[in-house]
Amino acid sequence: MAIISASILAADLSRLKEELERVKPFIDEIHLDVMDGHFVPNLTFGYPMIETLRTFTDLPIDAHLMVTNPDDHIKLFIEKGATRVTIHQETCYHLHRSVELIKSLGAEAFVAINPATSIYTLEEILSYADGILVMTVNPGFSGQKFIPTMMEKIKRLNEIRKERNLSFKIAVDGGVGNSNAQDLINIGVNILVMGYGVFRNDKLHELNKFRM
Ligand code: DX5
Ligand code: ZN
Repeated sequence: MAIISASILAADLSRLKEELERVKPFIDEIHLDVMDGHFVPNLTFGYPMIETLRTFTDLPIDAHLMVTNPDDHIKLFIEKGATRVTIHQETCYHLHRSVELIKSLGAEAFVAINPATSIYTLEEILSYADGILVMTVNPGFSGQKFIPTMMEKIKRLNEIRKERNLSFKIAVDGGVGNSNAQDLINIGVNILVMGYGVFRNDKLHELNKFRM
């Protein structure tokens, strides 16, 4: 069983409120992709989007910060309504400090890694982070194909979690949908982030069999 996190990057933004009403019975939280055009080759949402979301939903919101200077934004995203902040290992000089900052402000702290970044770079942060987000596509866009070798990476991360008796959650983001959700749950994934898998899914009701 897993939590389904709906990435609004794939929603019809001209009807965002209606879109969230439509998918609400099948999701547990909202995933907000914040992109800066530097760390990733795309520009997306900033503070106004989280303010907008908070006018009509009280679902948990994960702010996935794909920006080169996440520390500058953590506090404001939490003040505006993020319940979790996900920062990239690749963008943090002082990852422990950033994780502790997020937690001290009352939000969950997740650390994300790109497909080419090893889980071993996380060794020293695993006991501090509330979760690890394994990117299963190169970040930047919705609707990309899941990179199959990420399965082994997730399995190893799950093994380390067991070996060290740690409690961080494992999340995946990119190319996740009805066809691979169960396989991901079977190898230890707790949170499935889905863009196309939620907003462009003609078998949306099937998501309920993966949820807790
Ligand atoms: C990719 C984003 C994802 C994306 C997922 O950079 O971080 O959250 O919206 O979209 P899908 O599920 O369509 O791959
Ligand atoms: Zn994301």
